[in-house]
Amino acid sequence: MATEQQTQEATPEAASAGKSESLTVTDNRTGKTYELPIEDGTVRSMDLRQIKVDPDEFGMLAYDPAFTNTASCRSSVTYIDGDAGILEHRGYSIAQLCENSTFLEVAYLLIFGELPTGPQLDRWTFDITHHTFVHEDLKHLFEGFRYDAHPMGMLLSGVGALSTFYPDAKQIDDPEERYMAAVRLIAKVPTLAAFSYRHNMGFPYAYPDNELNYAENFLSMMFKKTEARHIPKEALSKVLDVLFILHADHEQNCSTNAVRGVGSSGVDPYSAVAAGVAALYGPLHGGANEAVLKMLRRIGSPDEIPDFLERVKQREEKLMGFGHRVYKNYDPRARIIQQHIDEVFEATEYNPLVEIARELEKRALDDDYFTSRKLYPNVDFYSGIIYEAMEIPTNMFTVLFTIPRTAGWVAQWMEMQEDPETKIARPRQIYTGARDLTYTPVAEREGPEKIVGPPARRPKRPRRGA
Ligand code: ACO
Repeated sequence: MATEQQTQEATPEAASAGKSESLTVTDNRTGKTYELPIEDGTVRSMDLRQIKVDPDEFGMLAYDPAFTNTASCRSSVTYIDGDAGILEHRGYSIAQLCENSTFLEVAYLLIFGELPTGPQLDRWTFDITHHTFVHEDLKHLFEGFRYDAHPMGMLLSGVGALSTFYPDAKQIDDPEERYMAAVRLIAKVPTLAAFSYRHNMGFPYAYPDNELNYAENFLSMMFKKTEARHIPKEALSKVLDVLFILHADHEQNCSTNAVRGVGSSGVDPYSAVAAGVAALYGPLHGGANEAVLKMLRRIGSPDEIPDFLERVKQREEKLMGFGHRVYKNYDPRARIIQQHIDEVFEATEYNPLVEIARELEKRALDDDYFTSRKLYPNVDFYSGIIYEAMEIPTNMFTVLFTIPRTAGWVAQWMEMQEDPETKIARPRQIYTGARDLTYTPVAEREGPEKIVGPPARRPKRPRRGA
């Protein structure tokens, strides 16, 4: 930690340029100057604590409500350069991985840090394939949900419930338990995801088929009817595998931060991953592709696009599926999805929304209003259209995001376990409330007449069978 007026040693490069790898801060309240070491382009927030006016005070904090400029960990899983439109996992570009790899291989890469050898991949694939079944009691848990329960709510409960079936996963320091939790999570989340869909549809749950690959098995569990075996069209299972690769990890976002934050308490990985599922359920995180579909339906035909774009410029509408907090260039994932869209439509029924989407993209990219604001299509612009073509209902879109992201959450959770700097996450606050009030007994209290309570009740949903 830096101390007041401490001089830092410079790196050879910095020293030769007459520069020091430190930040000099002057507190204008006291006139004191502090040197804070810079490492990897960051200063440690704890180094601010020494800055105080009075020796008895707590010391300076950094205020960053949405972690918009705060690194919360060191990670070697995923690299993103938003300005350059780069996404890499363990050093491999997302384009190379989508071109050459499979989702299960990418999951291995994320979790273990290197591409597997042939025998390693065979073992990993075997282990995942042979842990896709869930305990029958979990099926009964799903049967207890209402017929119209949101599939993300059911999946969230199912993932949390897994911790009760595997209590040994609490031994988070045991490498074998960690491995088994990684395998079980990646293997069983698709099974629970498909159960949630079939529960909504009123179909009997379909069990996994170990002869199929990961994406095929998921589509089989979704769509199998009376046939002895459901083998999905190759074009669809291949594109789904690419979509799984594209969504496998995206470094420290809301849900990954939730997994790490909850996991930092030492809880088992199923419970930590359930926190990630809950975070992804939020419309600001996992729900944009659904909003893209609604927007395309509202536009209705390519002729309406100029009017729609005009309304966007007047800020009456938002161009959903465009723009990204990190990518201020083309989202590399959107470029890859685009390459696969024709394969999907050759294998499915024609969907007029694609025509609208393509024309909308073309016009927006020709328009200075969007390019000057660095608004390019993001991963969600086309993924919803592909899911819809596969006959996956919109309320399942976030569930389809959860399946591959489970691998990323597991990788980040594993990395956190190995990190010597890991501690229970415990942010600070700036307290803005009252202090030192004197308690008044209820009979002596005076206050506003208005009774605080819930707003007037809305009519109830009809119950099943009502
Ligand atoms: N449509 C129209 N204008 C937009 C859009 C959009 N989709 N996105 C940003 N802008 C405008 C803003 O109004 C702003 O204009 P101004 O400078 O004239 O005020 C400018 O572009 C810069 O936008 P910011 O608000 O700074 O962008 P920010 O990084 O905060 O927002 C976000 C990123 C939330 C993704 C935004 O672009 C958006 O809402 N997009 C639509 C929703 C969407 O597609 N989300 C999915 C993201 S990908 C994912 O989560 C997997």
